[in-house]
Amino acid sequence: MTRLPLVALAACGLCVGALAQTAATRSPPTFTAEQAARGETIYREQCEGCHGDKLDNGEFGVPLRGPVFAAHWHGKGLDAPFQVMFEQMPPTNPGGLGVDAYVDVLAFILSRNDVAPSSTPLPADPAALGKLAAPG
Ligand code: HEC
Repeated sequence: MTRLPLVALAACGLCVGALAQTAATRSPPTFTAEQAARGETIYREQCEGCHGDKLDNGEFGVPLRGPVFAAHWHGKGLDAPFQVMFEQMPPTNPGGLGVDAYVDVLAFILSRNDVAPSSTPLPADPAALGKLAAPG
């Protein structure tokens, strides 16, 4: 398991606070259509080659939608997949896209996991992301 190094989590007060949230207190995720549209452009350039044009048909990456994605993140806050994206993706340039770009791609991923856009943006802040429920 390289996904959540315990040492890193213990050192991150915001993450620990987010993990302390129970699933029951998390809100449904929100994002705007503009965020998802920007995220799709970034996804097509940076992620599709491994994760596939449909997000679950990639030759070199795991599915980012559907039952596998839901099974990985069910019951967790959105800070969890965000952390993986920010710290590990794309593998040749982890963190290299900048926080706002990762938030936009996460909005696009949400849109492909049957979450509808609204006027409330997906926040670009790990603590706030931890208060939103991952899909699944
Ligand atoms: C070179 C291929 C490659 C590229 C490009 C890539 N990924 Fe990945 N991604 C992977 C692999 C392989 C894994 C599984 C890693 C593991 O489980 O340790 C993964 C895992 C993930 C996960 C965790 C999924 C889960 O349920 O465990 C997310 C989220 C993710 N990638 C998002 C992205 C995003 C967003 C981009 C573009 C910015 C991207 N990836 C680009 C190969 C890639």
